[in-house]
Amino acid sequence: MAHSLGSSKIAGSGSFLLVYKRVAAHWRAIVLLLILGFVAFIVAPFDEFVPFMLILFALLLLFIASQIFWIGRILDLGERFIPGKPRRVLLAIIAGMVYLFVFAYNFPSIESTNTHVFRAADYRLHSVVLEAAYWWWFVGSLLAFLLVIAFGAADRAARAAGWVYRKVRTAIHERSATADTETALLSPGRRRLLEQTAVLVSATPFVAAGYGLLYERQDVEIVRQRVRLARLPKAFEGFRIAQLSDIHIGPFTTADYIRHCVAITNGLEQDLIALTGDYISWDREAQGDVVGVLAGLRAPHGVFGCLGNHEAEGAIEESITRLFAAQGIHMLRQERAPIRLGGETLNLIGIDHGGDHDRRLQELKALVMPNTVNILLTHYPHFFDHHSELGIDLTLAGDIHGGGQMSLDFVHRGLNLGSLMGVPYIRGLYEKGGAQVYMNRGVGITGFPIRLGARPEITVFELSRT
Ligand SMILES: [Fe+2]
Repeated sequence: MAHSLGSSKIAGSGSFLLVYKRVAAHWRAIVLLLILGFVAFIVAPFDEFVPFMLILFALLLLFIASQIFWIGRILDLGERFIPGKPRRVLLAIIAGMVYLFVFAYNFPSIESTNTHVFRAADYRLHSVVLEAAYWWWFVGSLLAFLLVIAFGAADRAARAAGWVYRKVRTAIHERSATADTETALLSPGRRRLLEQTAVLVSATPFVAAGYGLLYERQDVEIVRQRVRLARLPKAFEGFRIAQLSDIHIGPFTTADYIRHCVAITNGLEQDLIALTGDYISWDREAQGDVVGVLAGLRAPHGVFGCLGNHEAEGAIEESITRLFAAQGIHMLRQERAPIRLGGETLNLIGIDHGGDHDRRLQELKALVMPNTVNILLTHYPHFFDHHSELGIDLTLAGDIHGGGQMSLDFVHRGLNLGSLMGVPYIRGLYEKGGAQVYMNRGVGITGFPIRLGARPEITVFELSRT
């Protein structure tokens, strides 16, 4: 059956079905890569990040498979447009050289992204352009490859159904209906439609990646979120907290862009500003610059913050806290800052990202003020399951970048990279036992400089008793 389907004339027309056939032709290489990957995975000393590393590994293998596929398509195109005797080997060598150059050139940033290597950022224009092109190709080609597989699989299923239908029809009518059906399937109109659909389908991810790189990445959304806190003191009715998260200063989140975010934030009529970590990306030297820009934030009740994983992994927790303090910005590190208004109090708490889990939980317990509204600033809400019993009313967090910067949440909530990696809290407001947490999508990027379905956001909360 597989042979009869595979040898259909439709597949030999240079159409999308041929493209899918080529994927199928590489299945041995893909299986071999998977086996090699799993052997490497078993040998490598992964423990606590196993699910995360598994998904990263699957993505890597998928990327390799997609590149084998796309190199093949580029060679097909080259053969079509270069007249004379096809020089496939020569074209393959040229394509290989281009790949090697682009990967070698972008290796420092790839290395930083995957293994958290801290290094000086490269702001030179040609470096930024090449890195952007690399990530555009990475995201576009991977998504397009997934679509090709899905499209091909759907087509194969449809053709299998057609084959069964013809067999049944032949058996019932005791005459061959195959010729009629083949004629219908092969009609030039249908073939052209299939080809056009194929081009459109495989081009969409490249266009989307370009949009995410050039536009959505800095298309800041101002989110106005009303938060109901049953025991909010009367004096704090309508109190506004603006939140900025995941700044990640770097070549793709420049000081100018952050300055623009600071200007937006200052115009939100906020009473207090909360910063929820990840001020740098991979460049420790940039801490002075990011603090310098954030020093422009203004709020009557002050600017407070907590530290993120990039500060912890970059070992700049002490230094950046001192830099912030010099600008009047208070990083709350296992500390609280009671906010007073009209003789009443709201307890603001901040904790570091990571560290010993049990010790951190005990520290958090000690910071909660009974019979007071407690608001926690934390990069990721590791203890959210306990917040209700601890008496933490509201938590402001970030870290996940709206689902790994790529999301189809507008189609269905939970369709994003973060959820795929098993992260329970991704974006927006969550409630558990009366405790609430808000997951901010952040303003910056890490890894690929693309945001798709996960616009950067600046949030302003309005506290209310009702
Ligand atoms: Fe982040």
